[in-house]
Amino acid sequence: MTEQQSPAAVGGDVRLTGIGKTYGSFTAVHPLDLTVPQGSFFALLGASGCGKTTTLRMIAGLEEPTSGTVLIGGQDVTALPPYKRPVNTVFQSYALFPHLDIFENVAFGLRRRGRKDVKKQVEDMLELVELGQYARRKPHQLSGGQQQRVAVARALINHPQVLLLDEPLGALDLKLRRQMQLELKRIQTEVGITFVHVTHDQEEAMTMADTIAVMNGGRVEQLGAPAELYENPATTFVANFLGQSNLLPADVTGGAGEDLLLSAAGARLTVPRARCATEARRVHLGVRPEKITIEHGSAEVAEGRNRLAGTVVDSSFIGVSTQYLVRTEGGQEVTVFEQNMERDARVVPGAPVVLHWNPAHSFALDAAQAIDAGTGEAAA
Ligand SMILES: Nc1ncnc2c1ncn2[C@@H]1O[C@H](COP(=O)(O)OP(=O)(O)O)[C@@H](O)[C@H]1O
Ligand SMILES: [Mg+2]
Repeated sequence: MTEQQSPAAVGGDVRLTGIGKTYGSFTAVHPLDLTVPQGSFFALLGASGCGKTTTLRMIAGLEEPTSGTVLIGGQDVTALPPYKRPVNTVFQSYALFPHLDIFENVAFGLRRRGRKDVKKQVEDMLELVELGQYARRKPHQLSGGQQQRVAVARALINHPQVLLLDEPLGALDLKLRRQMQLELKRIQTEVGITFVHVTHDQEEAMTMADTIAVMNGGRVEQLGAPAELYENPATTFVANFLGQSNLLPADVTGGAGEDLLLSAAGARLTVPRARCATEARRVHLGVRPEKITIEHGSAEVAEGRNRLAGTVVDSSFIGVSTQYLVRTEGGQEVTVFEQNMERDARVVPGAPVVLHWNPAHSFALDAAQAIDAGTGEAAA
């Protein structure tokens, strides 16, 4: 494989500058700037209709941008047709040739370009995707996951600098999808080229990508490493779309050193200034459900923790953890995930409880944003 990879090593960074797309008066993608470093696994994540496929197709050359430029490996490819760009695309519908066997499906690009040493290259590629023993089968004799790997092999054999993947695992059932996520990640690490992966599945993006661009309504809302987006969401959409967040309407009442003092849910809480994404006085105070400790109402809480008193409304045991819904004294509902270690038998629906967490695990967002953006319950 190594010597075949050399063209890709030249440089597969993707640079989008002011790239945008309108259809008549509708803006599918607002002009955006984005750099995908060479060799990275990059995910475009967002709900259906947010402009992911349009963005990917503009990189591929399958869609003509209304504005902006596309650079791949430093070369301006904006005016080039798809086949002259150093990219290949894998779609959700694998689009394998049904009448050709697996070997010939993978060999297709090489044969069309009149290349020699086809056999060795195809064999190497089938080995990479762990389908060596299936070379003489037809596509319909393979499982969905195996067919998807053939589609990846067929794209990679052309030595693109960048592989574009549009919801490639969308047709697979959950278990197979999880398996293929790890498989694709392994292949990407092995070949070392840039992958741009489109998905609406936040867990998939977090599992696979080095960097995620979260898209909403044709814009990139936030870009960063999975853990960074999760711990430091910059908008309510990102806070709700990536995992789950408790967002409490709060008023900033003052400051104390590094911290802001807030009044929320009938209590006085704090958040580090560094974790406040806004100067506004009205904010949404955020905390992830697993950061909160839930204890029976009689428990003592250590100094310096954020603390809310409430009543358990609902609890559901889901094996690895228990999920509680708690109504605070201020009338807000807060979700808490507690790992199953030592459960307090008194913490049941109706019981008085106290919730507490480290203020460093809170974040504050401008209250001008819809509090339920990205929950699936928000108006589209
Ligand atoms: N050819 C087209 N004509 C008009 N509208 C389009 C066309 N292609 C896509 N759109 C619209 O642009 C928006 C973004 O589409 P798309 O990029 O496919 O979203 P995603 O892949 O995130 O689901 C959608 O609202 C879609 O309906
Ligand atoms: Mg799409």
